[in-house]
Amino acid sequence: MKPTIRARTILFALALALTACEAHPSVFAPAGPASRSIATLGGWVTGIFCVVAVVVIGLVAVAAFRRRGTLETHEPFDAGGGHKWILIGGFAVPSVILAVIFVATLGTIDRFPLHDGEHYRPDIRVVGRQWWWEVQYVGDKTLVATTANEIHVPLGWPVEIELESRDVIHSFWVPALHGKVDLVPGRKNRIRIVADEAGRYEGQCAEYCGLQHSRMMFAVVAEPMEDYQRWLAHQAEPAKAPSSPEAARGLELFETKACGLCHTVRGSRAGGGVGPDLTHLASRQGIAANSYPRSRAYLQAWITHAQSLKPGNQMPNVTAMTGDELNAIATYLEGLQ
Ligand code: CUA
Repeated sequence: MKPTIRARTILFALALALTACEAHPSVFAPAGPASRSIATLGGWVTGIFCVVAVVVIGLVAVAAFRRRGTLETHEPFDAGGGHKWILIGGFAVPSVILAVIFVATLGTIDRFPLHDGEHYRPDIRVVGRQWWWEVQYVGDKTLVATTANEIHVPLGWPVEIELESRDVIHSFWVPALHGKVDLVPGRKNRIRIVADEAGRYEGQCAEYCGLQHSRMMFAVVAEPMEDYQRWLAHQAEPAKAPSSPEAARGLELFETKACGLCHTVRGSRAGGGVGPDLTHLASRQGIAANSYPRSRAYLQAWITHAQSLKPGNQMPNVTAMTGDELNAIATYLEGLQ
């Protein structure tokens, strides 16, 4: 038996509802004052547009059902009689609604200034790269630590982030914390985020930036100040020495094979700047800009088949190694806590 149109529609609606339940970045679950304010404004705007849509659909329905029949049974249509409706419904009402929304939007923007002008000093510098996020922690103009794709912030504290790009335009967006701000080559943009609920908030590049734009993700982890300070102090340290002969072999391979040409592990001879800093890779949850979980299997798959997992990215497939060598490198990387 073939499903009827109605059954298909219900199935489609159910599928839509289910996809909405997954843990995607959402503007409807704000965790900071800015996102809460944006969500409130968004709720009002959506509500107003729903009311307008219902009114318009109602008027169309009235017009369609009021006078049915053929042309012969009705008087000829008087084109001159509807101007008043066009002026009210087409100009006056939209103008008032758009003006109200405009003023409300200005108010929302004004409540959360993005920077303090001349005396601005960033806490974090985020550099957009195709297709990942370099994250530099800066204190008193000196670089404290570099990491990637995972930004830790102290709970309840405003954090000043400076945004720049190394290649094309990207857009920094953590829906749970703030609106979008672009990362533009040759320009420094700023955003101030405050998280007042502890948690891990997913972020996503929000400006089409090439083949892997959709896999340019990151996360903001908001945690109590002590945890944050402990985390940052740890990130600032160089990598620990390998703790097993296999890991030591992995380090040697990492330095001598292609890896070290593109990646930095502070404390080793690997000092490349093409890919993410891997000094504390194992403290992060994801790899490939959070496209995949940082499991041993995905790490090995990424090393040998990065072009299958994220076609077009800068990491080549590194296949010139034995299984034992691949295991040793994975063991070394997993030890980079
Ligand atoms: Cu970066 Cu889209």
